[in-house]
Amino acid sequence: MFQVKVTRLKREADGILGIELQALDGAALAPFEPGAHIDVHLADGLTRQYSLCNDASETDRYRLGVGLSATSRGGSRYLHTSLREGDLLEISAPRTLFGLSREAASHRFIAGGIGITPILSMIRWCDRHAVPWQLHYCVRSRTCAAYLEELEAFGGSVHVHANDESDSGVPDIHVLMGDVKPGEHVYCCGPGGLMDAVSHHGQRCGIPRDNLHFERFTVSPAQIADSTGRAFTVVLARLGKRCEVKADESILESLERHGVCPPFSCREGLCRSCEVEVLAGEVEHHDYVLSEEEQTSGRSLMICVSRAKSDELVIDI
Ligand code: FES
Repeated sequence: MFQVKVTRLKREADGILGIELQALDGAALAPFEPGAHIDVHLADGLTRQYSLCNDASETDRYRLGVGLSATSRGGSRYLHTSLREGDLLEISAPRTLFGLSREAASHRFIAGGIGITPILSMIRWCDRHAVPWQLHYCVRSRTCAAYLEELEAFGGSVHVHANDESDSGVPDIHVLMGDVKPGEHVYCCGPGGLMDAVSHHGQRCGIPRDNLHFERFTVSPAQIADSTGRAFTVVLARLGKRCEVKADESILESLERHGVCPPFSCREGLCRSCEVEVLAGEVEHHDYVLSEEEQTSGRSLMICVSRAKSDELVIDI
């Protein structure tokens, strides 16, 4: 964790705040990969993940875009209403969970609203390295579309789909994905409904799972409720401790109740910071960061959301 200074705030579109961060001494920041995000620590212990949208070759600044969420539990509302230029923020080093595939013949980006932020840095990388790409940018209206001017500079590879300009009022999945070519990788970041549609359509069309990439920022309350279930026991192998996990609490909450405080960040299965190795037992995964292969292997789990199918789970803590 380290402190950075807010050097610029800019309204990028309706409800979207652009934030520029620089090192306190103006020195170079830690490098990042296109699609990377940072954890931003806010008041009252809140931590939120935000993607870096600037060119990954820049070392003097990080740029974030933050959408004001109607259901904000404090993160985006705080940034939109209280943050000022010159303020200090505590952030983590960049991490990449939504990176570009180096095997892809070409890249197709599908962004919904504020989901454009990680994709913008990916596009900048593709453009600089002359890798073929196209963007489908789905927005409610152009007034809500952040970074439009920057995107228009990329020319015909950018396709904007504004709901208020179409008869149906929603993007047509066949237009977004109808002509995906063999070897093309698809990256989607945006509302859950859009990502579900892209995932279902991709599977129906036989696009290999490894060629479909998703980045989630939030989990709906219904999805969080889904990750509760029956009670079980978690055994902490290194500490030699047994903890009961109640039906309505997570493994992480149970450990905290028993005085064990492992690292965590999002508490929603989105960031991978609470990942723990599984030594025995069967896992019921509820995270959004492990690949299908990783989940099937059962070698690790996110203790903030995932649970046990077996009566007992032995983990490496
Ligand atoms: S704390 Fe983020 S995945 Fe568990």
